[in-house]
Amino acid sequence: MTDINETAMNVKCGVVGCGVIANESYLPAIKKYGRLVAVCDIVEKKAERAAKLWGAEEYYDDYEEMLEKSDVEAVFILTGMGDHAGQAAMAANAGKHVLVQKPLATNMDDLRKAVDAVKKSGVKALIEPCVQMFPEYVKAKEALKEIGTIFWFRAGLGRGPPIWGAATFFTKKAGGPLFDLGVYQISALTFLLGPVERVSGLARTSIPEVDIVPDDWFIEYLSKSDTYKSVWPLLGRAPRTQKIKVEAEDNTLTIMEMKSGCLGIVIANFVTPDGLRSDIGMFPDIEVYGSDGGMLIGSGAYAVAYKTIKMREWVKVGWDTISRRGWSYYEASTKHFLECIVEDKEPIPNIDWGAHVSEIMIKSIESSRTGKTLRMETTFKPY
Ligand SMILES: NC(=O)c1ccc[n+]([C@@H]2O[C@H](COP(=O)([O-])OP(=O)(O)OC[C@H]3O[C@@H](n4cnc5c(N)ncnc54)[C@H](O)[C@@H]3O)[C@@H](O)[C@H]2O)c1
Repeated sequence: MTDINETAMNVKCGVVGCGVIANESYLPAIKKYGRLVAVCDIVEKKAERAAKLWGAEEYYDDYEEMLEKSDVEAVFILTGMGDHAGQAAMAANAGKHVLVQKPLATNMDDLRKAVDAVKKSGVKALIEPCVQMFPEYVKAKEALKEIGTIFWFRAGLGRGPPIWGAATFFTKKAGGPLFDLGVYQISALTFLLGPVERVSGLARTSIPEVDIVPDDWFIEYLSKSDTYKSVWPLLGRAPRTQKIKVEAEDNTLTIMEMKSGCLGIVIANFVTPDGLRSDIGMFPDIEVYGSDGGMLIGSGAYAVAYKTIKMREWVKVGWDTISRRGWSYYEASTKHFLECIVEDKEPIPNIDWGAHVSEIMIKSIESSRTGKTLRMETTFKPY
């Protein structure tokens, strides 16, 4: 039994992009909270397998055809990072609600088209990642008032490159680690601290070629059984026989000046050896400092710690509990999205905020290429 109302469970859902995240996370969440009607992948075999594994009534290898022929009411956009905005605009223009995996867009033309289409059509649009629901950021937001006026932050995430998805992560259009990893911290920082005024960036490609697991391996994996088993335990050991060129910048720094006046930096890269940062307990992904104290927001332990100038000890919130165990952001956002559709509510991670987050990343890369600090054109109503 789920705690979602029955009308939401009847929302007819379609998925575009039947890759890792669709099979691992959203297809199970849609099965739990909605009604899966159609799936689509340009690789027909993947669409066919996903339909079989998750019980979709129809499958397509052409997105436009799915929008035209199926009667889906809501589309989950789970393709490569450079395709999201165009596909979101197409769905909105066809009157379908959209949940868009991060990022909304990797260039300004596509971003404007997606925003216009969503606003003109009036469909619901939820833009991932739904950091406004992540337990650690909710705790951080509550504790922020303890540390006074915020002056600066530093944040970042580095790891090795993904070992799949040539077109999903590595092409110029897809955008690289800033859009894949940096998006989490930039999303969280805008949720915590509000909109950004100016952006500056430095980015380069440090590792120009990587070896990944070819798509054929996934097709074979999806074909092995009629129930889906998580790919994660096997993926690390799968043969990396496809050499690909890394087109997008894989080593990035983004400097942000918030409208509130505070300054900070976000690091995002695919050039940090995997596992380096995980074996000594909590590493803060985000540090924020203000007039009265500081705050560490963690990865691994999904915890928050803050300390004011009057305190001797850090106050640790959720430090020992690993509070996100058993919690899935994909489930939380799927449920919220379907409820917003049937209750006619604006999703909390809305289009204005999602567009602002994408513009920060687009401007960071543009700043690195042009050598200029750039002013933001989008904004959102602070949370
Ligand atoms: N894998 C993860 O852990 C993870 C976590 C969070 C978010 N994401 C995000 O989810 C998205 C997908 O990631 P993934 O890991 O599932 O990648 P993936 O490469 O496994 O899947 C993408 C799928 O989209 C399909 N596709 C590409 N273009 C298409 C088109 N025009 N029409 C239909 N299908 C098309 C591909 O064939 C592929 O099957 C990315 O934006 C990524 O940033 C992934």
